[in-house]
Amino acid sequence: MNCTKIVIGTKTQKYPIFIGKSLIPKMRFLLNKNLKNFEKCLVIVDKNVPKKILKKIIKILNKKQLSIFQFKANELNKSQKSLESILKILLKENFSRQDCLITIGGGITGDLGGFAASVFKRGIQLVNMPTTLLAQVDSCIGGKTGINTKYGKNLVGSFYQPKLVISDTELLESLPRREIICGYAEILKHSLIADKNFFNFLQKNISQILNLKAPFLEKAIIKSCKIKKLIVEKDEKESGIRKILNLGHTFAHAYEASLGYSKILNHGEAVILGIKSASKFSLKNKILKITDYQSIISHLNNANLSHDIKIFFSLKDIDKIISFMLTDKKNVSKSINLILLRKIGLTQYNKNFSKNKIKLFLKNELTN
Ligand SMILES: NC(=O)c1ccc[n+]([C@@H]2O[C@H](COP(=O)([O-])OP(=O)(O)OC[C@H]3O[C@@H](n4cnc5c(N)ncnc54)[C@H](O)[C@@H]3O)[C@@H](O)[C@H]2O)c1
Repeated sequence: MNCTKIVIGTKTQKYPIFIGKSLIPKMRFLLNKNLKNFEKCLVIVDKNVPKKILKKIIKILNKKQLSIFQFKANELNKSQKSLESILKILLKENFSRQDCLITIGGGITGDLGGFAASVFKRGIQLVNMPTTLLAQVDSCIGGKTGINTKYGKNLVGSFYQPKLVISDTELLESLPRREIICGYAEILKHSLIADKNFFNFLQKNISQILNLKAPFLEKAIIKSCKIKKLIVEKDEKESGIRKILNLGHTFAHAYEASLGYSKILNHGEAVILGIKSASKFSLKNKILKITDYQSIISHLNNANLSHDIKIFFSLKDIDKIISFMLTDKKNVSKSINLILLRKIGLTQYNKNFSKNKIKLFLKNELTN
């Protein structure tokens, strides 16, 4: 088969991720090889996944008793209400633990469907088919699942590994440019936390990747998956090193939440803004050298990916941002835990900062 296989081996599960172009025709073979035989299958699919793709997949699953839950994938629908609708189908159709749930969509679909799979009868067979670049390079790996609440993002969830991930790069062809940039933000994050050579590769090939050109796109996806694999295998439940995957995300989640998860700033754009903030905070605290800081900022500027925080926020928003940062899952006390950069390819984690220190930082960012 003309694709790359990466095996993720956590304490709870060992499963393969297949990365390549035109993998849908191989789907039956992959399901037979990696799952226990099942009768019933629930497909959770994002409405924006092109109909012709869904049709092809349904054709392949034609021998199974098939149910479909199609929904509008947005942060508001990554909710308890959607979860209940999914559980209702599984209960009504009397799915057994050996039956199967397949998610086809981006991170929202994967997180929601994965959470449903983890709680239904304490876990049914799960397959992820990520259809966004973000999901292929990040959210499909490592087993974090969850839903949002009005108190913040992803505050209710589980760790639950799939049996199989099929990352078909052809599925990315219908993605809007803004969504491709979202995925790129996580690719960049992976290079910054773990691999300077990968960052150099991105410096050279960013436009090819953003234009989904082979083999650059595949290389970036594979390298990202390998970096995330190494980290989640060491620390599946995020008690230590896995926290470094949150570089920029404490800021990013607070930015998104403060804007009510509006379209003005989507997840990936918030991550880029968050990476900028975390890099600047690292610089200001004498953790990161100015030369590395400048490389990161010019990388973003050259690709037109860098937005000014002042477009989105003003001084009056600081308290709201801080209150969301305080609800971050990494915090264990009233201080805020930040992942910072020591240099490109190396992070500093488990550092806590007082809310006043971060307030002052944001105040400077929003006034200078
Ligand atoms: N579980 C994890 O480890 C993890 C990691 C990172 C992010 N996340 C979560 O993932 C979510 C963000 O993921 P995302 O960026 O993939 O968002 P998403 O699922 O909302 O998808 C982004 C947009 O692309 C559309 N879309 C999806 N596939 C498409 C396709 N093939 N063609 C056209 N449009 C398509 C969706 O409808 C949506 O509008 C957030 O909720 C975040 O919390 C989870």
